[in-house]
Amino acid sequence: MREDATHSLARKYRVISWFYDILDYPWERQYRHWRPLFLKDVDGTVLEAGVGTGRNLRHYPLKVHVTGIDLSPEMLTIAKRSARKAACSVTLLQQDAVSLRDVPSDHFDWYIATFLYCVLPDELQPRALEEMIRVLKPGGRFKLLEIVYSKNENLRRRQERVVPFVEKLYGARFDRHTLEYLKRNDHIEILSARFLKADTYLLIEGRRKTI
Ligand SMILES: C[S@@+](CC[C@H](N)C(=O)[O-])C[C@H]1O[C@@H](n2cnc3c(N)ncnc32)[C@H](O)[C@@H]1O
Repeated sequence: MREDATHSLARKYRVISWFYDILDYPWERQYRHWRPLFLKDVDGTVLEAGVGTGRNLRHYPLKVHVTGIDLSPEMLTIAKRSARKAACSVTLLQQDAVSLRDVPSDHFDWYIATFLYCVLPDELQPRALEEMIRVLKPGGRFKLLEIVYSKNENLRRRQERVVPFVEKLYGARFDRHTLEYLKRNDHIEILSARFLKADTYLLIEGRRKTI
């Protein structure tokens, strides 16, 4: 099951990598205002999971070292070009966020993921979050930005109209349970969970407990 889901995502991103930045442009017009605000307090060593085409890279502060991982080699090829515009130093690796086999434990000050967990199937999320905890230093922080369904009926209806398209194309859904999985995990502390826009763009911040 896990292999099927992972292969299917790898296949999707192999195809859409060619036009991902164009396809995503209407949404990126708002994300590009959020990205620098969201990343400005990040420091030290950072693991960015699902780095995609590297949209966040140029917004990290100068002194940060970012290790960007992604399942898709094709998305990483584009991220390499984005890395040239980054002020910080960047290493890119092809890795599965669910099993970060080449990533050391207790190593990172920060774990960042934007629009990865709405793509990761629910059955893979607890394992990916365990990997996040493993690679963070005790006390290390994380920020996850995701899209969820609105509780407003009109807005939810509008979201439901685009979901078949976003699921087919990106593998993304708005009914993942990332926050619930995080709340159930005793090794982390959630510092805040707030919306950046309406009640749909959810930013979850937290840290790995020290004991
Ligand atoms: C919707 S894109 C988001 C890209 C980027 N984070 C952004 O904000 O524009 C999701 C990314 O997650 C990657 N991805 C999907 N499943 C993954 C996994 N299991 N491990 C690592 N990356 C994965 C995809 O290849 C894709 O690049």
